[in-house]
Amino acid sequence: MRNTKTSPQIGKKLVDSNQTEQALEDRVQALLAQMTLAEKIGQMCQLNVGDQGVPDEVAQRVRGGTLGSIINVVDVDAVNALQRTAVHDSRLGIPLLVGRDVIHGFKTVMPIPLGQAASWNPDVVREGARIAASEAASHGINWTFAPMVDIARDPRWGRIAESLGEDPMLSSTLGAAMVEGFQGRALAAAGAIAACAKHFVGYGAAESGRDYATTNVPENELHNVHLRPFHAAVDAGVASLMTSFSDIDGVPATANARLVNGVLRDAWGFDGFVVSDWDSIRQLAIHGLTADDRESAYEAAQAGVDMEMQGDAYFEHLHSLVDAGEVALGQVDQAVANILRVKFRLGLFEQATTDTATLRPIADSDARKAAYQVALQGSVLLKNDGGALPLNSNSLKSIAVIGPLADDPYEQMGTWVFDGDAALSVTPLQSLRDAAQGKFDVLYAPGLDSARSRDHGGFEAAVKLAEQADAAVLVIGEDAILSGEAHSRADICLPGAQAELVRRVRGTGKPVIAVVMAGRPLTLGNILDQVDALLYAWHPGTMGGPAIADLLFGVVSPSGKLPVTFPRVVGQIPLYYNHKNTGKPPSDDTIAHIDDIDARAPQTSLGMTAFHLDVHFSPQFPFGFGLSYASFRYSDISVSNPNPAMHEPVVISCQLENTGAVSAEEVAQLYVRDVVGNVTRPVRELKGWQRVRLRPGESTTVEFTLLADDLAFYGRDLKLRTEPGEFHAWIGGSSAAELQTQFCLHA
Ligand code: NOJ
Repeated sequence: MRNTKTSPQIGKKLVDSNQTEQALEDRVQALLAQMTLAEKIGQMCQLNVGDQGVPDEVAQRVRGGTLGSIINVVDVDAVNALQRTAVHDSRLGIPLLVGRDVIHGFKTVMPIPLGQAASWNPDVVREGARIAASEAASHGINWTFAPMVDIARDPRWGRIAESLGEDPMLSSTLGAAMVEGFQGRALAAAGAIAACAKHFVGYGAAESGRDYATTNVPENELHNVHLRPFHAAVDAGVASLMTSFSDIDGVPATANARLVNGVLRDAWGFDGFVVSDWDSIRQLAIHGLTADDRESAYEAAQAGVDMEMQGDAYFEHLHSLVDAGEVALGQVDQAVANILRVKFRLGLFEQATTDTATLRPIADSDARKAAYQVALQGSVLLKNDGGALPLNSNSLKSIAVIGPLADDPYEQMGTWVFDGDAALSVTPLQSLRDAAQGKFDVLYAPGLDSARSRDHGGFEAAVKLAEQADAAVLVIGEDAILSGEAHSRADICLPGAQAELVRRVRGTGKPVIAVVMAGRPLTLGNILDQVDALLYAWHPGTMGGPAIADLLFGVVSPSGKLPVTFPRVVGQIPLYYNHKNTGKPPSDDTIAHIDDIDARAPQTSLGMTAFHLDVHFSPQFPFGFGLSYASFRYSDISVSNPNPAMHEPVVISCQLENTGAVSAEEVAQLYVRDVVGNVTRPVRELKGWQRVRLRPGESTTVEFTLLADDLAFYGRDLKLRTEPGEFHAWIGGSSAAELQTQFCLHA
């Protein structure tokens, strides 16, 4: 029982929701002043609970006030019981942070983050996170490990699924929207949970896309690319950050004082807390940075890692490190203050337990609407020859729905769905049947048992159905297990015998519509010419079926745009739109293809540019690309002032007209190139976008305002600067936009 002599009056005092930051800070310090070193270190520890009941060690440490956080318990009664123990039975009554990977939904599952990013719409992304937070909060969870804002330029990397793509600005905007969605207008508000931007930093640059592999990110690129979305998350008020598992330039992120204490705290002023990744403190020894757990605890504490996720290096060794004077007590106090600050902001000292009656029910109509909207806006139409889509429900007599993912409620949820409820999923097959409403027949044969299957046994039945039908809809792609943490692939083409299935169905001569559900960009070269249309739906989540059906039938025109470049072949990776120019950039005039070289030609200088001999230097589909059932014409680009001074805004605008026959939304994108820089600058960088809805024949002016800050970059001295000089700007429907203007910025 709690020792009443040291009752935590400060911690227990009711907070008025308008408490000032100073008042909060006073409470943090007053509570800290009452804590023993063991209690302080306890706050810096997290343990896994799991679903087999609460381990004795966890229960004892909660009671003893030596555990600050638990992970992976979603039984609200168990969570409430532990919170009651923490608040009523521990000496100081400090409530627990209850963490869970609520990555793209809780019970109601939104599309994978990469699919959400394809919406380019912070509003639907924010709403998805808000729903996820409130469903999770109703189970006692108060802290999620999302958003993952690692820049992902390698589609082999399984965690690209969890990313927001390859672009710093898109990842920053959507990552910040997720933070806002999870955390709500105030962390203490009902349904809000603390977010965690991860994995600080560079984790997405894993060599050859193997998860956890070494990263080597040059300092300049770290600042200009990888750090940016983390900075945006901090600016959005994210409560916590997680360090990466990986080694960055020789110092694993979890021991990287220069990045954690230096950049995050000193330069950016982050006042939330930093958690390690799962056992990544002890792994410092496996990296070969430290000799043992004690040294690992020392390195992580020095770096500024406030809490250890599921490991015991801090618990076992911090005390003796402090006693020996190796880790300063002030360092521990700082870490604990960072953690307590978030607990106070979450309102846990006022209400640690969860009243299940007051929170929204799971998967209510708002949740389903949010999941539908983001799946709808994030699906990308990559090919549509001869107007194969939309399907016309009035003239069709039958469609054959084929493919291992057409009716698989679980696989369509994608990776990271610990709590996702497959029973809530609506599959494409169900939705196509609903759409038919007796007007046409929906025939179904999966063809393959799973996306990985190589068993052709089901092919005949599938081909027969396609022969009978007016069109075949093939729902193919990757099983959920093929992407996500530790699920990287070296070959990213369609797995199993799916490409052969597509060919067999193509052989019927019927129109073939492919719907691809996947956790990454796939190399599609071997099926692209076998299909009339291809809709890329990623893993679309609970409401994937209705979104896909509405897109296939043209109830809504596709409007998603790629948040990541699609390579033609794996050998092109890394391939991303915002690359540097090099001194020898390839162009269509100079390249030669291996097939064009005379077999007997002497060794010769071909092209002399940065290209591969055996594949075009361009991607299969560029970043930002996505078709619509409408067509959009961009014209009349202009710049408000071709010679602006530094303090003057530059407005770049163009006309955008819907020249098609249906109403549709288009994501108009602005790209800029800083032609000469103190360090070399990317050939293009995304600087803005707008989702615009236009009726047939309607046109509008699309306008982007740039300030000097928008053109800033980190130079050789790693200082942020905007340089005078020439800038090129493009507006269009993808990163390959051709409509160009320019301006010259004056000092
Ligand atoms: C390891 C992953 O890298 C991280 O992203 C996740 O949040 C933690 N495990 C907790 O499950």
